[in-house]
Amino acid sequence: MSASVDAIAAPEPRAAVRTTATIRVGLVGCGAFARFSMARYRALPGVTIQAVADIDPAAAQRAAAELEAGVLAPEALLVAPDIDLVYIATPPATHFHQARLAIEAGKHVLVEKPLATTVADAETLAVLAEREGRCCVANLVERYNPLADAVRDVIRSNLLGDLVHGLFVNDAADEGLGPGHWFWNRSVSGGIFVEHGVHFFDLVASWLGHGEVVAAARSVRPPRPGCGNGGPTAVEEQVMCTCRYAPSGAASRTVDPACGDGNGHAGVLFHFEHGFHQPSRMDRQEMRLVFERGELRLFDWVPTHGELRALLDDAAVAATADLLPAASVRRVDRYEGDARHVRGRFRGFDASGLVEITFTVGKDKLGIYGDVVRDLAADQIAWIRDPAHRRRLTEAESVASVAMACAADRMALAAG
Ligand SMILES: NC(=O)c1ccc[n+]([C@@H]2O[C@H](COP(=O)([O-])OP(=O)(O)OC[C@H]3O[C@@H](n4cnc5c(N)ncnc54)[C@H](O)[C@@H]3O)[C@@H](O)[C@H]2O)c1
Repeated sequence: MSASVDAIAAPEPRAAVRTTATIRVGLVGCGAFARFSMARYRALPGVTIQAVADIDPAAAQRAAAELEAGVLAPEALLVAPDIDLVYIATPPATHFHQARLAIEAGKHVLVEKPLATTVADAETLAVLAEREGRCCVANLVERYNPLADAVRDVIRSNLLGDLVHGLFVNDAADEGLGPGHWFWNRSVSGGIFVEHGVHFFDLVASWLGHGEVVAAARSVRPPRPGCGNGGPTAVEEQVMCTCRYAPSGAASRTVDPACGDGNGHAGVLFHFEHGFHQPSRMDRQEMRLVFERGELRLFDWVPTHGELRALLDDAAVAATADLLPAASVRRVDRYEGDARHVRGRFRGFDASGLVEITFTVGKDKLGIYGDVVRDLAADQIAWIRDPAHRRRLTEAESVASVAMACAADRMALAAG
């Protein structure tokens, strides 16, 4: 049930928090992802896993044995006096209610994505967390990837010129998502934009700031009778949306209003596609950022490596390579004399050649996934210990990702 944001009183000064003591973590929802995350949290200095809870007693017992923690009933864990931070890793529709109970009991909360399945609920949690001086962010790990920092630096450097548009295509596996899985039930998951798309709305927002959804659509898999529980029901399997972000780059920020017909919109269009329909061995993702002088691509849904191909002068090649981890430069073509002069978007620039730069964080997907899960928790715990610590992800950004997802979902449903 949603609570009105107005019903929550204005924020008061943040309550004092324990600065040096061990942070005692309680887990609610001992499923597949929680067990992956908890193994990383457990390795953080000054953190102990106090108790776990699940509506499935066998799941709770298994996690408790793995984590050497106690077992409590979910409602008891959310308010237990000896827990400082609750990690909520249940299916999305339960996040709001559980997070609210925990914050009201004085806990900090790390909520699995999405923060909530409606904007009103997400906003309510953020307001409540601020009033109580507590943490309540969603586990939006993408912005903690070193490649996310590198891409942000490339965009801000303007070395490739302005960003013109972006594209993220996520052809994800559904092999582990049988017909009875909660993922397909929109009243539990919130739909693909909300359950999954929030990660990428947040990642792109970390590069380009606030965006707006301008178009969206979805497709459903027709009923497949005879394939088991849930199979006879049609399920949403593919969603797409296009969003607009503020222009990137100095040149676009100084657009002469006398240019153009005045009827268009300046800004960067970014297209997101998420589908869950592939065998696990064909699971694949690609992010493409197209700039005036070339393009940058990232691979995997937690990106592990990327490629950049651009027309650059020698100084820009060196400066770009400096921004990318473990960069390896290959000169594809070299230009001399007049061939050095290149034009695009009514502008000219010089390029000494066409280069390809590959880069990598030097770990496989699971290795980086573990790192970003750990780093997000460490960042939030640093803030819990010291409110002056500047977090990379806040409640406001967690809410913003839900707002984008819900706007896209509404538009996709309206499109039929
Ligand atoms: N941040 C990420 O990269 C990432 C990756 C995968 C999943 N997730 C998120 O993690 C959450 C869980 O996903 P999962 O794949 O682990 O699901 P899962 O189905 O494997 O696990 C969910 C667990 O919660 C338990 N549960 C359900 N309702 C409960 C309740 N009311 N109280 C207590 N326990 C309850 C279930 O019994 C189950 O053990 C989802 O929100 C999902 O979107 C995040």
